[in-house]
Amino acid sequence: MRIATVVLAAGQGTRMKSSKAKVLHEVGGKPMVVRSIETAEKLTALYSSSERPVVVVGRDADAVKSIVGERATFVTQAELLGTAHAVAQAESVLRGKATHVVVYYADMPLLEVETLRSLVESQVNSTGVLTLLTVIQDDPRGFGRIVRNEFGQVVDIVEEREATSEQLKIKELNAGVYCFQADWLWDHLSRLKTRSNGEYYLTDLPALSAIENQPGLPIVHNDIEELIGINTRVHLADAEAALRRRINRKLMLSGVTIIDPATTYIHESVSIGQDTVILPNTHIYGATQIGSNCEIGPDTTIIDSRVGNSCEIRNSVIEEAIIEDRVNAGPYCHLRKGSHLEAGVHMGNFGEVKNSRLGAGTRMGHFSYIGDSDIGVDVNIGAGTITANFDGVRKNKTIVGDHAFIGSDSILVAPVTISNNARTAAGSVVTRNVPEGHIAIGVPARMRQIRPPASASVDQQQPLQAERKET
Ligand code: UD1
Ligand code: CA
Repeated sequence: MRIATVVLAAGQGTRMKSSKAKVLHEVGGKPMVVRSIETAEKLTALYSSSERPVVVVGRDADAVKSIVGERATFVTQAELLGTAHAVAQAESVLRGKATHVVVYYADMPLLEVETLRSLVESQVNSTGVLTLLTVIQDDPRGFGRIVRNEFGQVVDIVEEREATSEQLKIKELNAGVYCFQADWLWDHLSRLKTRSNGEYYLTDLPALSAIENQPGLPIVHNDIEELIGINTRVHLADAEAALRRRINRKLMLSGVTIIDPATTYIHESVSIGQDTVILPNTHIYGATQIGSNCEIGPDTTIIDSRVGNSCEIRNSVIEEAIIEDRVNAGPYCHLRKGSHLEAGVHMGNFGEVKNSRLGAGTRMGHFSYIGDSDIGVDVNIGAGTITANFDGVRKNKTIVGDHAFIGSDSILVAPVTISNNARTAAGSVVTRNVPEGHIAIGVPARMRQIRPPASASVDQQQPLQAERKET
């Protein structure tokens, strides 16, 4: 047994009212056509086949090809003459290569591989020439109606625009997912006649098989949501919501608390550890991994980032960042590409970090920007600290050693190094390196040796006042 898949993606998608092809619209952050191809790949893998899915392209063919890439074999339907005509374009690449051909439409983003598998199994175990999925539903959504004879066999599929008023009342609908005996399919596609609109309908094949006394086997599928076909942007939003429910449900069943699933937007590529709590209006996308026992949100967006265990991230935006265990961030932090917060870092309100490491236990509580920097462990970054990393031409690096103390409102003009245990006074503009055991003071900052502390805690104001007396 050899299984091949054909995904139809050539149609206009007129009802989307869009300048781009329908199948390029995204559901859950992924173009629909990519979703259909992934499902096809999973199916062929189940039958240990490496046959790539065949995608029939037409409208926006180049855009579809460039987004899908090498994962599929493309055939072009130059003229859009209907769904049967579309499948016929795949004959030249598939004839003789498969015993069974699974066909479905690229506008069904929620279709699951298990459903396709049971369709294939039914076909393989039947003597008939085709098997198809149907749904029973009150809202017909423009689907074709399944016409059965008195033995329950499918004798026809009637498209909505061609149905009689009696047929319109039929509640069993054609989902648009089929498994054919390959040779029968290729032999019969060419025997179909055009319809009044000049199209060849794939949905006319069951009638043909019934005439030949080999009626198609209908499989009624219970999960209607899964077989959503997208024709308009209203359907697109329906699919988005259905996918969201599916993903959130899976996460909740795996031990993640989601306070309000209706306002929690998580891509299926995301992994989240047990006992993590996701608060409302949180968006977690891409290749993000979040550990266990975290509290994320509300109003937080995390994209392509790694978050360790026991972190708390509130009202913040995190992009392409690494956050180790027990980090506490927000509200209103922005971690940009290349931020790396080591264990136990505290980042308070209105902080921005880009392309920088903050060493373990470092604290950056209020209104700061750290860019292109390497900050050591246990550093105190005072309120309003800014790394002036851009000189108008280049991005320059700031290095701050372990246990350093950066006074409030310091501006560190890069490239610059603040050594271990060094300090900057409040309001200093640091243009030169600060050696170990020194404090930088003033604008631009001058250097003086740090006096041994009179008591356990050093008073940051003292040296600054001393400096003023001297001038
Ligand atoms: C189709 C079915 C209908 C079914 C419904 C389920 C037919 C004739 N009708 O109707 O019975 O209930 O899907 O969603 O098959 N396409 C091509 N080339 C073409 C025409 C279409 O590749 O010449 C592709 C489209 O890109 C789309 C798919 O086929 O992905 C279905 O086309 P669409 O126009 O959406 O068919 P429906 O009217 O929804
Ligand atoms: Ca459709």
